[in-house]
Amino acid sequence: MKFSNNFFFGAASAAYQVEGAIAEDGKGATNWDEFVKIPGKTFEGTTGEVAVDHYHRYKEDIKLMSEMGLESYRFSISWARIIPNGTGEINKKGIQFYNNLIDECLKYGIVPFVTLYHWDLPLPLEKDGGWLNKNTIDAFVRYAKVCFEAFGDRVKHFITFNETIVFCGMGYLTGAHPPGIMNDPQKYFQATHNVFVAHAKTVIEYRALKQFGEIGLSHVFSPAFSIDNTEDNKYAEMHANQFGINWYYDPILLGHYPTYVLEQLDTQGITLDITSSELEQLQIAAPLNDFIGLNYYQPIRVEKITEPFDSIEPTRENSTGAPGNPSFDGVYRTVKMTDKRYTKWGWEISPEGFVSGLLQLKRYYGDVKIYITENGLGDEDPIVEGEVCDIPRINFINDHLVAVKKAIDSGVNIRGYYAWSAIDLLSWLNGYKKQYGFIYVDHADALKRKKKSSFHWYKNVITSRGANLKINCDSR
Ligand code: BG6
Repeated sequence: MKFSNNFFFGAASAAYQVEGAIAEDGKGATNWDEFVKIPGKTFEGTTGEVAVDHYHRYKEDIKLMSEMGLESYRFSISWARIIPNGTGEINKKGIQFYNNLIDECLKYGIVPFVTLYHWDLPLPLEKDGGWLNKNTIDAFVRYAKVCFEAFGDRVKHFITFNETIVFCGMGYLTGAHPPGIMNDPQKYFQATHNVFVAHAKTVIEYRALKQFGEIGLSHVFSPAFSIDNTEDNKYAEMHANQFGINWYYDPILLGHYPTYVLEQLDTQGITLDITSSELEQLQIAAPLNDFIGLNYYQPIRVEKITEPFDSIEPTRENSTGAPGNPSFDGVYRTVKMTDKRYTKWGWEISPEGFVSGLLQLKRYYGDVKIYITENGLGDEDPIVEGEVCDIPRINFINDHLVAVKKAIDSGVNIRGYYAWSAIDLLSWLNGYKKQYGFIYVDHADALKRKKKSSFHWYKNVITSRGANLKINCDSR
């Protein structure tokens, strides 16, 4: 159970969830700064105003990460810190902040892995139509270029977008994320297409700059499995994977859309504004893409809907990953199974589903380079005599790292693992109640940092390159 020396053991975060300082040093407002003001949108009305104050405490945080032995830190850049209104002037103080953060990582030999878009869109762009407005594509490409030119001498790993399915799905289907629109598949698919084009144009731009680093994008990886072997439910599995995996991975890795989904959209009367030059950009960019990032939390179990059903009112809980929802087109629903294990938030715990999904991905896309850019357990961590004893997180990450190793041994080209998250942070919709980090943040005591049990455990994993992982965990 040893991982090779060129495999990154990392951990991740996102600007809005950790930084705070939302209006400091010239930063512009974002879609999220506005959205969270709407009553009922987030748990107890939490906002990113302070988050965990990483903006001011990044030195302390990076030092802790280095004590943990972290090899790479995945963080995102807030577009509105760099270009406050999204399209106009560049904010020197924003550039300075990320220069400092990057330099601090490098001081400790931590490799910065940078996400350009983790959901916080400059507010003026959202007001002008957000990802439905094709001008946002060009604005993003410019912003990306500014980042490449400012940071590319030291940052050699860039992720363009984080989880298109989530910010577009929650933005235009469930309304749980900005711009808060519900049940509009037309807008949802159009927004995803515009994001893919923005990714493609950015990859082409990156190559032209000859920075000799890597660029890719991170997708949610939630492979669908039928609840049984009936023909109907197997069809539901295929359909769910076409819409949840192929629609997202094909345009990036193969440079075109899956025929099955295009035909389905046609039958459903969804007509997208896709130009031939955009399709050409997708094709040109696909072979220039270096890797795909996978954010794996859980698989989905699906059954075909065979009878008319009452639609479920989306709630914070069911729109953030717990099973029970019908698909947007009413073809299948996700199911909670009695023989599976679930987190307190109802997310299935399935390292075996991870391995099966990775093997399917390899069969479909071949030898593509993969980073696991997120994986972790959201929990209310137990505090025993002042110590944060997050044993369930240790078990969760242990079992998923064992799954990653199994997949590597079966020929899947995985080059790194980023636990979500390096430090406790603001959950978009669940506030601070749901924790993911190796480092605890005490909201009752001036945001003091504290090492959790998992901090010491992950340090040992990194030092031993996985030799301390427990392999026989099937009985959990
Ligand atoms: C991923 C996001 O989808 O899930 C993260 O990239 C997010 O930003 C994580 O925090 C966990 O989600 P949640 O809803 O449990 O905070």
